[in-house]
Amino acid sequence: MDLKSFVIELTADGSPTLRLKNSNTLHPEKMPESMHHSGGAAAETLYIYTGPFKNTLQALAELKQNQLSIGVVGLGLGYIELSVLQNLATNPAISANLTSFEKETELTEEFTAWLNGKTNEIYDLICEKLSVEKNRVIEYSKAQTGSQNTSPRSFDWKILGELTAKTSILQPFQFVAYDAFSQFTDGPLWTDEFLDFFLTQLCAKDCVFATYACTGNLKRALQRNGFLFIKRPGFSGKRDATLALRGEFIALRHLFQSV
Ligand SMILES: C[S@@+](CC[C@H](N)C(=O)[O-])C[C@H]1O[C@@H](n2cnc3c(N)ncnc32)[C@H](O)[C@@H]1O
Repeated sequence: MDLKSFVIELTADGSPTLRLKNSNTLHPEKMPESMHHSGGAAAETLYIYTGPFKNTLQALAELKQNQLSIGVVGLGLGYIELSVLQNLATNPAISANLTSFEKETELTEEFTAWLNGKTNEIYDLICEKLSVEKNRVIEYSKAQTGSQNTSPRSFDWKILGELTAKTSILQPFQFVAYDAFSQFTDGPLWTDEFLDFFLTQLCAKDCVFATYACTGNLKRALQRNGFLFIKRPGFSGKRDATLALRGEFIALRHLFQSV
């Protein structure tokens, strides 16, 4: 895969990541950022996002709900989406809609081309490292509402472009994977104003919010918007990561204790 803005690197668990080719012009002293921890892109995804997502599915079962609206900020190589799809494919009771945001069109184009059958060894390797069944998730991703099969569940997936303070969505997110680059690279997505917008306008009143990041301003934004903030150990020696729960999920926080 040949990309204009990124180079491919392998992380310690053998899974690939992408590193920006150019430094941010506001922080030329910083090395161009990579999308994942060098300790393992697949392992990091499974720890930071898949664990909380599985717990969210358990919580939905307790709440006797079968609908889930999911938001992923930063499609990148699609690790989170592939892992989410694998878990949805094995939970036939859940009807879900998934919204992914990605501002780099070359990433969206490569990913959707692969979903539509174009050979790409990078995405195949990602499936292998995540233990995702490629054919099953691709088939699942295409099973829209009212499809020919007999399953009562439905699935809808929209891959949108840049997330901004003007973005609007139809169904507020009940599970959020907030996986933008750090504030040095994707500063606008980490300001107090933007976080307030995102948490009030795009997140449901019952919501689970997961991210690798753990900063004071993120914690305060979550708390002032009604989330219970839970600090978790970061991945592979990183200090901390964040899980936050709002609404009915707070009473079910014991389900999230394994994270
Ligand atoms: C850390 S990477 C995401 C990695 C990805 N989740 C994965 O599993 O491979 C961050 C991504 O967010 C995208 N991004 C940054 N700002 C964005 C914005 N405002 N809207 C949509 N995507 C954005 C970047 O282009 C980049 O692909």
